[in-house]
Amino acid sequence: MEDRDRWSSRAAFVMASIGSAVGLGNVWRFPYMVYDNGGGAFLIPYFIALMTTGIPLLMIEFNIGIKMQKGPAFALDKIRRGAGFIGWFALLVSFVIVSYYSVVISWVWNYIYYSFTVAWTGHAKEFFFGHVLDVSGSIANTGGIVWPVFAGLLLTWVLIYFIIFKGLGVIGKVVSWTVPLPFILLFVLLIRGITLKGAVTGLNFYLDPDFSVLLNPRVWLAAYGQIFFSLSLGFGVMIAYASYMARHSDISGNAFVTALTNSGISFFAGFVVFSTLGYLAQALGQPVSEVAGSGVGLAFVIFPTAISRLPGGTVIHAIFALIFFVTLINLAINSAFSLVEAIVTGLKDIVSAKRETITFYVCLAGLTAGLIFCTRSGLYWLDIVDHWANNFGAIIVGLMEAVLIGWIYNPEEFRADINKYSDIHVGRWWTVCIKWITPIIIITSVNLSFYSELKSSYGGYPQWAVMTGGWLLIEILFILGIIINLRARNRRKA
Ligand code: PFF
Repeated sequence: MEDRDRWSSRAAFVMASIGSAVGLGNVWRFPYMVYDNGGGAFLIPYFIALMTTGIPLLMIEFNIGIKMQKGPAFALDKIRRGAGFIGWFALLVSFVIVSYYSVVISWVWNYIYYSFTVAWTGHAKEFFFGHVLDVSGSIANTGGIVWPVFAGLLLTWVLIYFIIFKGLGVIGKVVSWTVPLPFILLFVLLIRGITLKGAVTGLNFYLDPDFSVLLNPRVWLAAYGQIFFSLSLGFGVMIAYASYMARHSDISGNAFVTALTNSGISFFAGFVVFSTLGYLAQALGQPVSEVAGSGVGLAFVIFPTAISRLPGGTVIHAIFALIFFVTLINLAINSAFSLVEAIVTGLKDIVSAKRETITFYVCLAGLTAGLIFCTRSGLYWLDIVDHWANNFGAIIVGLMEAVLIGWIYNPEEFRADINKYSDIHVGRWWTVCIKWITPIIIITSVNLSFYSELKSSYGGYPQWAVMTGGWLLIEILFILGIIINLRARNRRKA
């Protein structure tokens, strides 16, 4: 066991964790969440969610990895026999997520290519949906593979393979570049953004507080949901990364640094996004609320439109477009390979093949699974799978982890464990968060999502598509998790 691969330093581990946490979500999800849920007032539930669920659960995942020195599934199984299925389920969900996350990265590669000529100028929306994705009229019409998207996907997987096949040494080096770089680039975009006309209007929209939202439960759930996805909780990633730290490692300090940096970058990205949106709104003569958006639309339509309307000519536009998309690549790639690394770490516990071989097959499987998202109906599938994997995947893993530690294992003993080598000692508040607050919030949230799913078909897609890409997929992953756990036990290595 002592020949386990190790991070070269505590900093490498923290950087890699930050790299996983800081991703597309910080740029395309957080700013809009703030705007849509009460502006500056949203920061209150957000901060409470961070302190009562985000950080306590991150400490659980770090401690499980460090204490057990195993991949997510075996580590959980060592906490309580049988609990390993939670880890396998988490890894299966991770696999599904990375299979489409890598396709989004492929779109970014395509946009890097188009940035040189700012090819979308004047028709950004049609360019994205019609030209880049070549979206078909309906989800039932697959329409074959869109080859440039496939090419980007292949490039992404080759890159992921080369980053992780050798182990932590290379990962540590890669994150020492890919984590600070987007921060610097965002800073450049910020300077450009806030010096544009209309920027202040955009920022007012972003942060103008509406305290009445604090009485709205939806807003609170949005805050908890955001924290979950943003900190990569419930995917097995943080457990896997922590399992490569030595036993006597700080836990609470690392969790605080990771979580606070992640939130800081989210907040900061909001300034970049909204100052630019303010400018776009003013250039188009529309209110900011008309141009604001999130997700795919923000990154590939709204922001590119704003860039193509910046003062200056094509060269300036091309430079800012490159800065923006290179930022996205850097943000996304760390998150993508963290998911793959978690899977590889989990598999290494049960297969005796070499890391290189396991990594190769995982990457090949990810590439193959991603094919469906490269088709002309890929965007629709991506939307459905993303919605389910996030609303019912990781969050359920988080619930089970909290119940496992809070109710089945002894939470006070676990807390003592966290404190043993940590500079910051966590008090009894931690136990209250894990035993009560986190499970109550997650159960409420899952029930509400469940209810709204039953009430209306998600996104207006046909029922069969939502059934297969949503419910069936999650159920299959869950059952597979249980089966793998039963079979894996026999193969457990010392
Ligand atoms: N935390 C990433 C983001 O905010 O974009 C997304 C993500 C990465 C989720 C890795 C889960 C994960 F394991």
